[in-house]
Formats: sequence, structure tokens, C-alpha cells
Amino acid sequence: MQQYIDKAVEQFRTLITEQLARQNRMEAGEQAKDFANLPHLTIGICGGDGIGPIITHAGEDVLRFLLADEVAAGRVEFREIDGLTIERRTEVGKAIPDDTLAALKECDVILKGPTTTPHGGNLESANVAMRRELDLYANVRPTCVPELGIDWVFYRENSEGEYVLGSRGVEIPDKLAMDFKVTTDAGTRRIARAAFEYAKNNGKDNVAIVTKANIMKKTDGNFSRICHEVAADYPDITAEDWYIDIMTANLVNEARRSQFQVFVLPNLYGDIITDEAAQIQGGVGTAGSANIGDRYAMFEAIHGSAPRMIEMGRGDYANPASVLKACAMLLRHIGKAAEAEKLEKALAICNEKMNMTGRPGGNTCAEFAQAIMTEVEAM
Ligand code: IPM
Ligand code: MG
Repeated sequence: MQQYIDKAVEQFRTLITEQLARQNRMEAGEQAKDFANLPHLTIGICGGDGIGPIITHAGEDVLRFLLADEVAAGRVEFREIDGLTIERRTEVGKAIPDDTLAALKECDVILKGPTTTPHGGNLESANVAMRRELDLYANVRPTCVPELGIDWVFYRENSEGEYVLGSRGVEIPDKLAMDFKVTTDAGTRRIARAAFEYAKNNGKDNVAIVTKANIMKKTDGNFSRICHEVAADYPDITAEDWYIDIMTANLVNEARRSQFQVFVLPNLYGDIITDEAAQIQGGVGTAGSANIGDRYAMFEAIHGSAPRMIEMGRGDYANPASVLKACAMLLRHIGKAAEAEKLEKALAICNEKMNMTGRPGGNTCAEFAQAIMTEVEAM
């Protein structure tokens, strides 16, 4: 037994040293890129697996259409990034092959299709790896259902918490296992800042800080404390503490839920509650997601790669609505709010008008994208 303990203690020393170095790098800080005012902006298109390439290319078509003037003037460039397929990732045994990662790092923003994560084995999720490699620390997930009075934006911490050491826990076989959750001060401060800045710039006056600080006293305790420190810079915004358990109930409480506006929360709670929120909106297929960092930003649908649709030859009938929502978020991030608004309006119309059954008889992905462009043209 002693040898296991010694090994675990040694590993713990390594982990603390590494995580402290990461915190110090973050604290030293990086100047955030002004994505809205770059003289030249490269948009990487990364198809992924299954229906990913089909819906992502529909997204690219719509973006090219909306940004035609910028492309013509040489201010915006599209770049195809292949190599993020499950075949390639399995072949090289890496969540993101080196050449693909290098190509991603040459872009400013990325539109990414869903990627398959195998059950078991050692292959890390491409999503989690990309968030880490590009330091995409803010996962921004809106949920909007106007008829129910719901207009929420979740700021999920995307780079640490339960995820950063998720595959580096310790175990004493047949006896016990321990995983580690890491909350750094700099990591919390930057996600809190992002949430409060969003609130301030969008006329919101309430931010819910969602933790389980009554139980996770160190990590969530610090998360809450630091969010309140940041909140002090925003006197017009009320910062409220909530526990994650009651918040999951509040989201389905019709009497309460429309009072919430902006949420800031640690990684795993954010992962879970944003699926609940997406379901209230109509399912994970209706949600888009932004992964924002200081140097890069990545936009994606939050549903999976639907390999069965491909196996059954129905890939062309995949619904691109979720990736198009992500495209609208991308447009906003690069300072194209008017184009984003047009796309969102066209989406609302086409979601009603088009018949996306996922099989022959319904509309295809390409027809949906075409209908979006026709609607935009008519505006
Ligand atoms: C998400 C997903 C990912 C996560 C998976 C695919 C690793 O559930 O983006 O919410 O857990 O973050
Ligand atoms: Mg999730």
C-alpha cells in the first residue's frame, strides 16, 4: 500500500507545481485580440466527423454569403482545416494531430463541426483538447425562448475545474480513487470578467454566480469570492449566489426562471446545466456555442456527429440550424452584429418554414442553407 501512497503523493506534487505555473502564466496575462478590428481575419472551417462536414459547409456557405464584401476586399479569408476526423485522430493517436493544430493556430476564429469521442481507450476528446490548446476559457451558451420570457446567457468556465486534470486522478486498486478539481484565481477572474462585461454591454442588471460552495469549500468557495470581487467593479449589476442544485430546479420553475439573465459557473456545472437549458429551448440540436479566448475563438453546434445518419445514407438531410446559430455568434464576435441579426431572423423564419425530418421527403441541409440566404436577401 505504501508504494501507492508514495506514488500518489509524488504525482500530487507534480500536479500542484504544473497548475501553479499555469495560474502564474494566466496572471501574467495576455493582451486580448480585438477580433472586431483586425485588418485581416482568417476563419478556419473544421468539418469534424459524421454529419459535421455537411452542416459545417452549409455554415460556411452562409458566412461567405454574409461576408462577401469583406472577402472580396481581402479582409476576411476562409481556410479549410481537415484532419480532425476520428480516423486521422485514431491513426496518429492524438486528440488533435500536430499539423491540424498548427493549421488551427494560424486562424483567428474557427467554425467547428461535431467530433466523435470514442468510448474508453486513451483518445482525449478533440473538443476538450482544442479548448485547452487554444486557451478558450469562456464557453458562452445562450438560451432564448421569447414566448416563455427566457433570455439566458451562460458563461461556463471552459479551461479548468473538473476538466483540467480529469484524466490524471490517482487510484489505489480495489480501494479508492481520487480526481482533482482545480480553481485558479486568475482563471476565475477572467471568466467572471467576461460574464460581467457581457452583462454591462448588453443592458443586463443581474448575474447569477452558480456553485456548490457549501460543499466544495475551497474551489467553489474561491470561485464565488472572486466573482464578487469582480462584481464590485460593476455597481449597476446585482451579483447573486446560487447553488447548482436549486438552480437546476429554478430553470424549470415557470414562476422564477424569467428573472435570470446571465450565469457564471465552473466547468462541470456549466456543462450539465447548459444541456438542461438547451432542452428547454427545444433540444441540444437547437443550441449554438462559443468558446472564447484572448487569441482565438471557436464556434460549434452542441449536438453530436450523428454517425447513424451517415450510415443510413441520410447525411444530406442533417439540420444545420445549430451550426448556423454558432455562425451568428461568430459574426457577432468579429463585429458583424447587423449580419448576425439578419442570420438569426432568417433562422427563426426557416425553422418554421422548412421541413427538416432528417430523411428523404423532408428538406435537405443544402436547401435549408439556400432558404436562409434567400430570406437574408429579401431583408
Ligand atoms: C460539451 C460536451 C463536451 C464537454 C464533451 C463532448 C467533452 O458535453 O461541449 O458540453 O463535456 O464539455
Ligand atoms: Mg456538454
